Amino acid sequence: MKKERKMKNKIINFKELDELALYVYKFLEKGGTLGLIGDLGVGKTTFTKRICEYFGITENVKSPTFTYLIEYTSGKKPVYHFDAYRIINSEEIYEIGFEDYIREEGVVIVEWANNIIDEMPEDTLYVEISHNDESTREVSVYKLINGEKEYVEFCNNYNK
Ligand SMILES: Nc1ncnc2c1ncn2[C@@H]1O[C@H](COP(=O)(O)OP(=O)(O)O)[C@@H](O)[C@H]1O
Ligand SMILES: [Mg+2]
Repeated sequence: MKKERKMKNKIINFKELDELALYVYKFLEKGGTLGLIGDLGVGKTTFTKRICEYFGITENVKSPTFTYLIEYTSGKKPVYHFDAYRIINSEEIYEIGFEDYIREEGVVIVEWANNIIDEMPEDTLYVEISHNDESTREVSVYKLINGEKEYVEFCNNYNK
């Protein structure tokens, strides 16, 4: 990836998507919330898997679509992996204790964060992925400040 660039509707390949996961991992290293947005098959679970690998998690990372939440505790930090795909009323997320998890010092990753957007913490980092062609995706990375997207700029400090 180039040295400085705002991640706004960037077309990137899977290798670059994996590099982005490393950048995002560093962002989440001390705890925080990541919201993943994008249709089925864009790569949300794979992205989560990469981040979990960087945390040293050894459990099998898979889509929690039918369970809402999977906790991974084998790494440097606990990672709470939510999937809001089936959530219709965003308040349903509280029934599984979402509030308690985001208050903890761990890491929260939410697939389909757009389904519970009003319940997401203020300092959430969002990675929005869309289909482009078979080997690339269109990606935006932003925070929401008063509902406005503030795109994140890359400093290329995510390379190991
Ligand atoms: N980083 C990646 N590297 C290689 N292939 C990927 C990557 N992300 C997604 N894919 C491809 O897209 C498919 C769907 O990805 P997945 O993470 O399950 O999507 P989602 O969770 O958004 O439904 C994967 O099975 C894989 O073929
Ligand atoms: Mg998934």
